[in-house]
Amino acid sequence: MSEQPNDLQYVDPDVFPATARRGNGCGELKIQGIKASSLAAAYGTPLYVVDEQQVRERARTTRAAFEREAERIGTTASVYYAGKALLNIAVAQWVSEEGLGVDVASGGELKVALAAGVAPEKIGLHGNNKSLVEIASAVDLGIGSIVIDSEQEIARVAAAADEAGVRQRVRLRVNSGVHASTHDFLATSHEDQKFGVPLEEAKRLVAEIRKHKSLDFLGLHCHIGSQIFATEGFAESAKKLLSVYGELGLAEPVPELNLGGGFGINYVRSDEAPDIDDIAREIMDSVAAACAEYGISVPKLAFEPGRSITGQAGITLYTVGTTKKVSIDAEDGHDERLYVSVDGGMSDNIRTSLYGAQYEVTLANRRSAADAALVRVVGKHCESGDIVVDKAFLPADIIPGDLVAVAATGAYCWSLSSNYNYLTRPPMVAVNNERSRLIVRGQSEEELVAQSVTETDTLEHTGSDFCVIAEAKNGTEPN
Ligand code: LLP
Repeated sequence: MSEQPNDLQYVDPDVFPATARRGNGCGELKIQGIKASSLAAAYGTPLYVVDEQQVRERARTTRAAFEREAERIGTTASVYYAGKALLNIAVAQWVSEEGLGVDVASGGELKVALAAGVAPEKIGLHGNNKSLVEIASAVDLGIGSIVIDSEQEIARVAAAADEAGVRQRVRLRVNSGVHASTHDFLATSHEDQKFGVPLEEAKRLVAEIRKHKSLDFLGLHCHIGSQIFATEGFAESAKKLLSVYGELGLAEPVPELNLGGGFGINYVRSDEAPDIDDIAREIMDSVAAACAEYGISVPKLAFEPGRSITGQAGITLYTVGTTKKVSIDAEDGHDERLYVSVDGGMSDNIRTSLYGAQYEVTLANRRSAADAALVRVVGKHCESGDIVVDKAFLPADIIPGDLVAVAATGAYCWSLSSNYNYLTRPPMVAVNNERSRLIVRGQSEEELVAQSVTETDTLEHTGSDFCVIAEAKNGTEPN
């Protein structure tokens, strides 16, 4: 947030979950009818709170938008939820009950999706460096598709499929070279990065894939980046990929085109993320136009949104521990900043320090008529970059013991969380219809201590000793 809001009490539905509002009587932030103080008392803070209804609605409306718009251009669309944004058994169940598949990026994510009962054929496996074990177990399980990300992986997946005696469906991830307007670390389709193969290599590698009887080539895949507001990037990328479909389709039909995820959400009031209906319509229009231009039939389409499904459905509740005023000389005229330290920080939300992400925060346990203070919400880690909300306005009478709620933390917060300074990962609760339910257990300090081992067998590495001696004899320096 950069501008001081007119009403500090306002809980903006464009940023907070749709059911979040300030209770008329109590003045507290309520979500799904539950007071913030009641959640904090039941589960402690920091606490990730996810609005189940909102996740389900976002999943449903996304699927409906892509299906409807695909039908309009004479094809079909499938939507896979990108589990990296936020994955646990409950979330995987909600999205699959709403008809989405699930994309996973590791063996661990795959196990969670399976534990949630997601059908293997509704799962896709991603990753630029999948292990042989990950590939083999995905193939053995009958996973819906494996997204091949490098030339080496073609033979690896083919060997696993041969071994299992199955025909594995695969996609080939290409780098369309489209520059998405987002943070550098979130853009994945410019040339100089690790994902996918160059578009110019696509024809050769598809031919290579088709040489293997055990591989069934579904189509090309591209993901241009994340937190993208400009829909032109998706359209441009679709066009580039489709430009090679004519030639690819000469040998055998290419049934699908997967355009990845990346649809942006509102983190702060000034954000204006495009509506999913508009995104779907614009992408389909450009797919239809490109197919007409290249004289090819419209392939089936697939999408993989993560953040736009769960991001705005989540908030994080923190308890204020200390406050501190510092003098500043800001260009915007502010001469004082109030540091508000909360009981979590970069271990439960690294996005601010990693990407310079911005967030909205509100006083959650009461109403206040106090003037607005320019605040920086910081964590409790030993690092000055440990900032949760860089710039916001909160009532100047905020005191230790108050609760604050940070909006739009439903994606890439729990999943990027760490145990820095041995802070425990917070629990996550789902809220729906005046009820709350623990869906991810928080860690205990005892669990963290137990990771240190004290009584293990000592291994002798005699082989490596020999190397060192041999090198020394050859006149090279031993390490
Ligand atoms: N498909 C692929 C192949 C991806 O790599 C990603 C995200 C997605 C789908 C989902 O993208 P989404 O719809 O969630 O934008 N940690 C960063 C985001 C990294 C995104 C990685 N890939 C953040 O906190 O903003």
